[in-house]
Amino acid sequence: MKNKLLAEGLLVLGIIATLFLCVACAKQVKEVAAPEKLQVAEAVAAQQGPSTPAPQADGVSLYQQEPRSLKPVECGSCHKGEYTRLKNSNSKHRFDCLRCHTQLHAYIPPKHNYEEIMPKCTRCHGLKHGKAFPKCLQCHTDPHSPLDIPFTGVQKKMKGPNGKMVVACEVCHWEPEGKQMQEHPCKHNTEEGCVGCHIDAIDATKHGMKPTCFDCHEPHVQGQTYQDCLVCHNPHMAKNILQYPEDTDNKVCGSCHDTIYEDLQRNHTKHSELHCAECHVRHGQIPKCQDCHGLPHGEALHKRFPNCLKCHLDPHNLPVLKKSE
Ligand code: HEC
Ligand code: HEC
Ligand code: HEC
Ligand code: HEC
Ligand code: HEC
Ligand code: HEC
Ligand code: HEC
Ligand code: HEC
Ligand code: HEC
Ligand code: HEC
Ligand code: HEC
Ligand code: HEC
Repeated sequence: MKNKLLAEGLLVLGIIATLFLCVACAKQVKEVAAPEKLQVAEAVAAQQGPSTPAPQADGVSLYQQEPRSLKPVECGSCHKGEYTRLKNSNSKHRFDCLRCHTQLHAYIPPKHNYEEIMPKCTRCHGLKHGKAFPKCLQCHTDPHSPLDIPFTGVQKKMKGPNGKMVVACEVCHWEPEGKQMQEHPCKHNTEEGCVGCHIDAIDATKHGMKPTCFDCHEPHVQGQTYQDCLVCHNPHMAKNILQYPEDTDNKVCGSCHDTIYEDLQRNHTKHSELHCAECHVRHGQIPKCQDCHGLPHGEALHKRFPNCLKCHLDPHNLPVLKKSE
């Protein structure tokens, strides 16, 4: 009894499953059939073409439009190199080829007319960098990627604004970089020069790269950032220490003036609470005690001992008050 029930149940299940499959199957067939029909229709249409007189009509229709000038991509089907370079150049030259190439397919080797028919940069740009740089292609070697400028073009020597022979960099970058280097020479002039610093380690031909001090130097103290360096140093006149802020960390000064730094720390007086930079407002400048204190002990004493340090010995290591405290 139990077995029979089971068998019947299985049968019912089987029927349901078969029905389900059939429906799914039919649906699939329908989905495939629709596009197949279309394809057949197309194929029939295409086959009818050659068997009728239509080809002639189609051929004529190819000549019914007025010729129009080619789009860059169409030029590119033959001149893939130029098209691709322009495409990838990220340049403002990505406009119609024909705006530059006004004469086309006109090169006749026996006439040696290549130069003549090629677009001239000056037509649109004039002498962009002045009379000193008339030969544009010397640096912009590829008009289809005008910002790829090989370094060799920009580092040769020529007459500078000051009449001396300088590298080309200085002619274009005279103010302020070139002039600063000429007027405030330091070891950066003799040991590096423009090219020594502005050379890209990966792509030595790339113009315009900027180094950081850390490419060549260690910081004075740990934790100094590259931006910190520029507070005190201009790379184009590195020996001229710039005006630093009053709250410059004493540790920076202390990295070179270590004895003074330690004295001021060890012997704690009110001077220890000041920054070096509050008293020495520019590098190398020495203040007078009187600038801040005037003459505190009365005229007679100061007349007799004009030098405060006769008694106070050392502003970084004031002894007198310590004893009297
Ligand atoms: C900004 C102006 C400019 C544009 C835009 C420009 N070209 Fe040029 N093209 C030039 C110049 C200038 C030369 C000559 C370069 C030389 O003398 O080395 C040149 C040279 C060529 C040459 C000759 C290369 C050879 O090796 O002799 C071809 C081909 C060429 N261009 C194709 C194109 C195509 C295609 C386009 C558009 C997809 C295009 N150019 C867009 C300025 C341009
Ligand atoms: C069907 C292929 C084809 C198409 C399309 C084509 N060119 Fe050319 N082009 C050539 C051939 C071939 C040369 C001669 C051989 C060479 O220099 O590569 C040539 C030469 C050139 C030159 C060299 C100088 C000269 O005048 O002979 C320039 C520039 C040039 N084509 C620009 C263009 C521009 C711009 C377009 C689009 C408006 C274009 N071409 C479309 C095949 C083509
Ligand atoms: C048909 C006019 C035309 C010609 C010819 C032409 N340029 Fe340009 N160029 C332009 C225009 C337009 C711009 C974008 C506007 C601008 O910055 O002045 C441009 C921009 C540039 C730039 C700026 C960078 C960039 O975005 O691409 C450089 C560099 C340049 N051109 C160099 C050249 C050189 C070198 C030649 C000759 C090989 C040349 N151009 C020929 C029209 C021209
Ligand atoms: C000695 C090399 C050199 C010569 C020669 C030269 N250029 Fe340049 N040109 C450069 C450099 C370098 C740049 C800066 C590119 C950059 O922005 O990175 C530049 C930039 C340009 C720019 C873009 C300027 C801007 O402010 O965006 C144009 C346009 C240009 N040059 C056109 C010309 C033309 C036209 C000639 C010829 C009359 C020419 N150049 C000759 C090196 C040169
Ligand atoms: C023909 C002129 C020219 C020559 C030569 C030239 N430059 Fe430039 N340079 C430019 C122009 C134009 C710019 C872009 C100016 C701008 O963006 O303000 C530039 C940009 C730069 C920049 C980047 C500025 C920035 O803010 O990113 C550096 C760095 C630089 N040049 C260094 C040099 C060095 C080093 C040389 C020599 C090897 C040199 N240049 C030769 C014209 C020139
Ligand atoms: C000791 C290395 C060094 C030397 C040598 C050097 N530079 Fe620089 N230059 C730098 C550094 C570092 C910067 C970035 C400074 C900044 O960010 O303020 C820079 C920045 C520049 C800039 C971009 C300025 C700006 O406004 O962003 C130009 C242009 C430049 N230098 C040109 C030159 C020229 C031209 C020479 C040669 C006369 C030269 N440099 C020599 C290290 C150097
Ligand atoms: C490409 C390498 C290079 C870069 C980048 C560079 N320097 Fe130098 N610098 C040198 C060399 C080489 C010397 C000379 C030897 C020395 O003193 O170490 C020097 C010397 C100096 C001097 C002493 C100058 C003198 O005449 O006594 C100072 C200050 C200096 N660098 C600061 C800087 C600062 C700040 C930066 C970043 C803005 C910087 N340098 C970037 C290579 C570089
Ligand atoms: C608070 C100002 C200050 C800051 C910030 C500063 N420097 Fe200096 N640096 C100096 C002074 C002052 C000298 C010594 C000048 C002298 O010899 O007359 C000096 C000298 C140098 C020298 C010459 C070699 C030496 O040790 O005497 C180098 C290189 C140098 N600094 C690199 C750097 C670098 C890299 C940074 C950034 C991490 C930096 N400086 C930040 C003030 C500063
Ligand atoms: C990289 C080393 C260095 C750093 C950092 C440095 N100095 Fe100097 N300092 C020197 C050297 C070297 C001299 C002596 C040569 C000179 O006069 O340029 C000097 C000279 C001085 C003098 C004049 C000494 C005299 O006898 O005339 C004073 C004051 C001075 N430094 C204060 C400071 C202060 C304040 C700081 C921090 C803001 C500082 N220094 C950072 C190296 C350094
Ligand atoms: C309260 C102001 C004051 C403070 C703070 C101060 N100084 Fe001075 N410093 C002076 C005076 C004043 C002199 C001149 C002493 C003299 O006439 O002999 C001097 C002289 C110097 C000298 C040159 C003479 C010598 O002893 O070598 C150096 C270098 C110097 N200070 C560095 C430093 C440094 C580095 C710091 C911070 C660690 C510092 N000073 C903090 C006032 C100050
Ligand atoms: C840039 C200003 C400045 C200069 C320069 C300066 N001082 Fe001072 N000095 C101070 C200040 C601020 C105090 C703390 C005053 C207060 O708290 O009343 C001080 C305190 C003192 C004290 C008391 C110290 C203590 O711990 O009580 C003595 C002593 C002194 N200075 C002597 C000198 C002598 C000597 C010189 C020259 C060698 C000098 N000062 C240069 C600003 C300066
Ligand atoms: C003959 C030695 C002598 C001379 C010279 C001298 N002082 Fe003093 N100074 C002292 C003594 C001692 C004290 C401590 C007095 C006290 O504790 O009342 C003192 C204290 C000071 C104080 C701390 C005062 C306060 O009220 O906290 C300052 C600031 C000072 N002197 C500045 C100077 C200056 C600036 C000069 C030079 C113009 C100078 N002194 C010259 C001996 C001298």
